[in-house]
Amino acid sequence: MTAIEYHFELGEVQAGDLRGFFEGWPNPPQPETHLALLQRSDEIVLAVESSTKRIVGFVNVLSDRVLTAYIPLIEVLPEFRGRGIGAELIRLALERVSDIYMVDVTCDPDVQAFYESLGFTKSTGACVRRYEHQSGAPDC
Ligand SMILES: CC(C)(COP(=O)(O)OP(=O)(O)OC[C@H]1O[C@@H](n2cnc3c(N)ncnc32)[C@H](O)[C@@H]1OP(=O)(O)O)[C@@H](O)C(=O)NCCC(=O)NCCS
Repeated sequence: MTAIEYHFELGEVQAGDLRGFFEGWPNPPQPETHLALLQRSDEIVLAVESSTKRIVGFVNVLSDRVLTAYIPLIEVLPEFRGRGIGAELIRLALERVSDIYMVDVTCDPDVQAFYESLGFTKSTGACVRRYEHQSGAPDC
Protein backbone atom coordinates (compact mmCIF):
# COMPACT_ATOMS: atom_id res chain seq x y z
CA MET A 1 0.00 0.00 0.00
CA THR A 2 1.41 3.33 -1.07
CA ALA A 3 2.32 5.88 1.62
CA ILE A 4 0.27 9.04 2.11
CA GLU A 5 1.58 12.38 3.31
CA TYR A 6 -0.46 15.31 4.57
CA HIS A 7 0.11 18.93 3.58
CA PHE A 8 -1.36 22.09 5.09
CA GLU A 9 -0.46 24.41 2.22
CA LEU A 10 -1.20 24.32 -1.49
CA GLY A 11 2.40 25.01 -2.44
CA GLU A 12 2.78 24.45 -6.17
CA VAL A 13 -0.63 22.77 -6.57
CA GLN A 14 -2.43 23.75 -9.76
CA ALA A 15 -6.00 23.22 -10.89
CA GLY A 16 -4.93 20.28 -13.04
CA ASP A 17 -3.76 18.47 -9.90
CA LEU A 18 -7.32 18.46 -8.55
CA ARG A 19 -9.06 15.96 -10.78
CA GLY A 20 -11.58 13.31 -9.78
CA PHE A 21 -13.24 15.08 -6.87
CA PHE A 22 -16.92 15.98 -6.30
CA GLU A 23 -17.97 12.46 -7.18
CA GLY A 24 -21.69 12.23 -7.88
CA TRP A 25 -22.33 15.99 -7.90
CA PRO A 26 -24.71 16.80 -10.77
CA ASN A 27 -23.10 20.19 -11.37
CA PRO A 28 -19.59 19.89 -9.90
CA PRO A 29 -17.08 22.71 -9.49
CA GLN A 30 -14.32 22.71 -12.10
CA PRO A 31 -10.76 22.09 -10.86
CA GLU A 32 -10.09 25.86 -11.14
CA THR A 33 -13.02 26.51 -8.80
CA HIS A 34 -11.83 23.77 -6.48
CA LEU A 35 -8.41 25.46 -6.35
CA ALA A 36 -10.05 28.83 -5.61
CA LEU A 37 -12.05 27.47 -2.68
CA LEU A 38 -8.94 25.86 -1.22
CA GLN A 39 -7.01 29.13 -1.62
CA ARG A 40 -9.75 31.03 0.20
CA SER A 41 -10.19 28.55 3.04
CA ASP A 42 -8.80 29.29 6.49
CA GLU A 43 -7.29 25.84 6.81
CA ILE A 44 -6.79 22.98 4.40
CA VAL A 45 -5.34 19.52 4.64
CA LEU A 46 -4.35 17.67 1.49
CA ALA A 47 -3.68 13.93 1.36
CA VAL A 48 -0.92 13.32 -1.14
CA GLU A 49 0.28 9.97 -2.45
CA SER A 50 3.99 10.05 -1.64
CA SER A 51 5.18 8.10 -4.69
CA THR A 52 3.28 10.12 -7.31
CA LYS A 53 2.53 13.41 -5.48
CA ARG A 54 -1.08 12.94 -6.59
CA ILE A 55 -3.71 14.64 -4.43
CA VAL A 56 -6.02 11.85 -3.28
CA GLY A 57 -8.01 13.63 -0.59
CA PHE A 58 -8.71 17.02 0.92
CA VAL A 59 -10.59 18.79 3.66
CA ASN A 60 -11.15 22.52 4.12
CA VAL A 61 -12.08 24.58 7.16
CA LEU A 62 -13.65 28.04 7.45
CA SER A 63 -13.36 29.86 10.76
CA ASP A 64 -13.97 33.20 12.45
CA ARG A 65 -10.93 32.36 14.63
CA VAL A 66 -12.92 33.28 17.74
CA LEU A 67 -15.59 30.69 18.50
CA THR A 68 -16.57 28.89 15.35
CA ALA A 69 -15.20 26.70 12.62
CA TYR A 70 -17.01 24.86 9.86
CA ILE A 71 -15.90 21.96 7.72
CA PRO A 72 -17.65 22.41 4.36
CA LEU A 73 -15.98 19.68 2.31
CA ILE A 74 -14.03 16.49 2.76
CA GLU A 75 -13.43 13.92 0.07
CA VAL A 76 -11.11 11.02 -0.59
CA LEU A 77 -10.83 9.70 -4.15
CA PRO A 78 -12.83 6.46 -4.44
CA GLU A 79 -9.86 4.16 -5.00
CA PHE A 80 -8.18 5.48 -1.83
CA ARG A 81 -11.15 5.11 0.52
CA GLY A 82 -11.34 2.71 3.42
CA ARG A 83 -7.72 2.99 4.48
CA GLY A 84 -7.91 5.71 7.11
CA ILE A 85 -7.22 8.77 4.95
CA GLY A 86 -10.57 10.44 5.64
CA ALA A 87 -10.17 9.90 9.37
CA GLU A 88 -6.67 11.37 9.30
CA LEU A 89 -7.85 14.40 7.31
CA ILE A 90 -10.50 15.12 9.94
CA ARG A 91 -8.11 14.48 12.82
CA LEU A 92 -5.59 16.95 11.36
CA ALA A 93 -8.29 19.51 10.49
CA LEU A 94 -9.55 19.42 14.09
CA GLU A 95 -5.99 19.87 15.30
CA ARG A 96 -5.66 23.04 13.16
CA VAL A 97 -8.59 24.61 15.05
CA SER A 98 -8.02 22.94 18.40
CA ASP A 99 -8.63 26.18 20.34
CA ILE A 100 -12.00 26.85 18.72
CA TYR A 101 -15.21 26.17 20.65
CA MET A 102 -17.60 25.01 17.90
CA VAL A 103 -16.54 22.87 14.96
CA ASP A 104 -19.54 21.97 12.81
CA VAL A 105 -20.11 19.81 9.79
CA THR A 106 -23.32 19.17 7.90
CA CYS A 107 -23.68 15.71 6.41
CA ASP A 108 -26.10 13.10 5.19
CA PRO A 109 -27.30 10.60 7.82
CA ASP A 110 -25.25 7.78 6.29
CA VAL A 111 -21.98 9.63 7.00
CA GLN A 112 -22.81 10.53 10.61
CA ALA A 113 -21.19 7.33 11.86
CA PHE A 114 -17.92 8.39 10.23
CA TYR A 115 -17.92 11.66 12.18
CA GLU A 116 -19.11 10.03 15.40
CA SER A 117 -16.14 7.67 15.24
CA LEU A 118 -13.94 10.79 15.19
CA GLY A 119 -15.44 12.44 18.27
CA PHE A 120 -18.31 14.40 16.75
CA THR A 121 -21.79 14.33 18.25
CA LYS A 122 -24.90 14.03 16.12
CA SER A 123 -26.75 17.31 15.87
CA THR A 124 -29.67 18.78 14.04
CA GLY A 125 -29.38 21.71 11.71
CA ALA A 126 -30.80 23.54 8.76
CA CYS A 127 -29.28 24.73 5.53
CA VAL A 128 -29.91 26.48 2.23
CA ARG A 129 -28.67 24.91 -1.02
CA ARG A 130 -28.78 26.95 -4.24
CA TYR A 131 -28.27 24.22 -6.81
CA GLU A 132 -27.99 26.72 -9.64
CA HIS A 133 -24.67 27.74 -8.00
CA GLN A 134 -23.42 24.25 -7.19
CA SER A 135 -20.45 24.57 -9.57
CA GLY A 136 -19.28 27.77 -7.88
CA ALA A 137 -20.15 31.43 -7.42
CA PRO A 138 -19.95 33.63 -10.53
CA ASP A 139 -16.53 35.16 -9.74
CA CYS A 140 -14.84 31.77 -9.33
C1 LIG B 1 -16.51 10.03 3.92
C2 LIG B 1 -15.09 9.79 3.36
C3 LIG B 1 -14.31 11.10 3.36
C4 LIG B 1 -14.37 8.78 4.27
O1 LIG B 1 -13.04 8.66 3.81
P1 LIG B 1 -12.24 7.29 3.98
O2 LIG B 1 -10.81 7.59 3.72
O3 LIG B 1 -12.87 6.22 3.19
O4 LIG B 1 -12.51 7.00 5.52
P2 LIG B 1 -11.61 6.13 6.50
O5 LIG B 1 -10.97 5.03 5.75
O6 LIG B 1 -10.72 7.04 7.25
O7 LIG B 1 -12.74 5.56 7.46
C5 LIG B 1 -12.78 5.89 8.83
C6 LIG B 1 -13.92 5.14 9.46
O8 LIG B 1 -15.16 5.67 9.01
C7 LIG B 1 -15.96 4.66 8.39
N1 LIG B 1 -16.60 5.27 7.23
C8 LIG B 1 -15.98 5.72 6.14
N2 LIG B 1 -16.89 6.22 5.28
C9 LIG B 1 -18.09 6.07 5.85
C10 LIG B 1 -19.41 6.40 5.46
N3 LIG B 1 -19.68 6.96 4.29
N4 LIG B 1 -20.40 6.09 6.34
C11 LIG B 1 -20.14 5.52 7.52
N5 LIG B 1 -18.91 5.18 7.95
C12 LIG B 1 -17.91 5.46 7.12
C13 LIG B 1 -14.98 3.58 7.99
O9 LIG B 1 -15.63 2.34 7.93
C14 LIG B 1 -13.95 3.66 9.10
O10 LIG B 1 -14.40 2.95 10.23
P3 LIG B 1 -13.43 1.94 10.99
O11 LIG B 1 -12.31 2.79 11.51
O12 LIG B 1 -14.30 1.34 12.02
O13 LIG B 1 -12.96 0.99 9.95
C15 LIG B 1 -15.14 9.17 1.94
O14 LIG B 1 -15.99 8.04 1.96
C16 LIG B 1 -15.61 10.13 0.86
O15 LIG B 1 -14.81 10.88 0.30
N6 LIG B 1 -16.92 10.10 0.56
C17 LIG B 1 -17.48 10.99 -0.49
C18 LIG B 1 -17.57 12.41 -0.02
C19 LIG B 1 -18.35 12.53 1.26
O16 LIG B 1 -19.34 11.84 1.50
N7 LIG B 1 -17.86 13.45 2.10
C20 LIG B 1 -18.53 13.75 3.35
C21 LIG B 1 -19.48 14.86 3.14
S1 LIG B 1 -20.07 15.50 4.69
